[in-house]
Amino acid sequence: MSDLSRREFLIGSSATLAATVWSREAASDPTRRLRHAIIGVGGQGTNHAKTLSKMTDLCEIVAIADVDPERRERAAKVLSERAPIQVYEDFRKLLEDPSIDSVTVATPDHWHTPVALHALQARKHVYVEKPCSHNAREALLLAEAAKKTGKCVQHGTQGRSGKGFIDGVKFLREGGIGKVRLAKAINHQFREPIGREPDSDPPPGVNYDLWLGPAPKRPFSKNRWHYNWHWWWDTGTGDIGNDGVHQVDQARWGLGVGLPKAVTASGGQLFYDDDHETPDTQIVTYEYDDCYLVYEMRLWTDYPLEGHDNGVIFYGDGGIVEFGRKGCIVTRIGKEPEPLGGGSDFTENIRNFLVCARDNNPAGLNAPISEGALSTILSHLGNIGVRVGRRLRLDPETCRILDDPEADSMLGRTYREGYELPVV
Ligand SMILES: NC(=O)c1ccc[n+]([C@@H]2O[C@H](COP(=O)([O-])OP(=O)(O)OC[C@H]3O[C@@H](n4cnc5c(N)ncnc54)[C@H](O)[C@@H]3O)[C@@H](O)[C@H]2O)c1
Repeated sequence: MSDLSRREFLIGSSATLAATVWSREAASDPTRRLRHAIIGVGGQGTNHAKTLSKMTDLCEIVAIADVDPERRERAAKVLSERAPIQVYEDFRKLLEDPSIDSVTVATPDHWHTPVALHALQARKHVYVEKPCSHNAREALLLAEAAKKTGKCVQHGTQGRSGKGFIDGVKFLREGGIGKVRLAKAINHQFREPIGREPDSDPPPGVNYDLWLGPAPKRPFSKNRWHYNWHWWWDTGTGDIGNDGVHQVDQARWGLGVGLPKAVTASGGQLFYDDDHETPDTQIVTYEYDDCYLVYEMRLWTDYPLEGHDNGVIFYGDGGIVEFGRKGCIVTRIGKEPEPLGGGSDFTENIRNFLVCARDNNPAGLNAPISEGALSTILSHLGNIGVRVGRRLRLDPETCRILDDPEADSMLGRTYREGYELPVV
């Protein structure tokens, strides 16, 4: 585990220090277009490609990498209609191109930090999809590497670029609803059961070994593969690391807190009877000195509940603030609800990243990895709590779980030979 203290970790998110550590970068040129690459062109990598393709003032997509030939060929066909692009199976080869300035990492979770660390080592700016890591130790290492290299590392928690949420957090900070002692992060939606799939051969041409990467060697199965890897502990982080990390991040942001001092979690499968390893129902309480953050997840309710969709409710002495798909709404006691503006903004999160990367300005990031790492760690703690079935006490300064070696060991993972983490 990193000996990075939380204080240093948080203060270190300031880029001023970082920029002097690694090297001095070229002076900012507002007309410069970044040469950008996308690593992992599945569902979300394709969303990145579509959004980045429209930002021709800021970047050009010059390369992609994916271990699945069908996916990389499909993406290459669309992207190369504008201009020729380089296509790679192995992202490490892509990163050898010194002309590439920045990358998107949209692989499965178990590859996020390893790819991002390789990219930082190759001196690229990184937009890493959420959750930034597969375990807590990786999240700390990634934040530390961003600080050390002075590169921009934006986290895919795009709520941080939503105008209504930014205004909502300001409103909370200014005491708009008085003292806030509880925030509830709600993730409820219907997620289809996945059934049971037998082991089989991987599709022809797929580099399955590279897809597994740091994860233990397992036979191929359609249910371990594209998208469904979310629901296996080797590769995914369950829905608390998937959609939940958005709500946990917003709740932590609004409360203005970092790592908790204790975590109580319970969860299980009340609905699924299939290949899922991760829970469909999960409740986690994060304890701080003067407030609580509660995460509540149900993957079997697809209708609005208590007037609320996915989002966060902040409870204060003088009313509530709600973050949801419709944006931010403030309700002061005895007053009508007031909308403050729209919510999550994926396009703006990407634009903000490109502008900061162009200007070598990590301090300008809306969703910096120093924050993304903390929210991702909260998701991991929620999973560790469920898996060991005990209350966890944490040292928030060092991010170590106290008096529980088994739980503490779950803050990291064992890396398959040949796929160890690079040292940045
Ligand atoms: N920010 C958001 O709101 C948001 C939304 C959706 C997904 N995501 C995140 O994006 C990530 C990708 O999700 P998805 O739905 O596209 O998953 P996916 O399984 O559809 O796609 C992942 C792609 O990565 C490729 N890949 C795997 N290992 C690779 C490697 N070593 N090198 C190159 N390519 C590799 C796979 O072949 C696949 O094409 C996830 O972590 C997910 O949480 C974020």
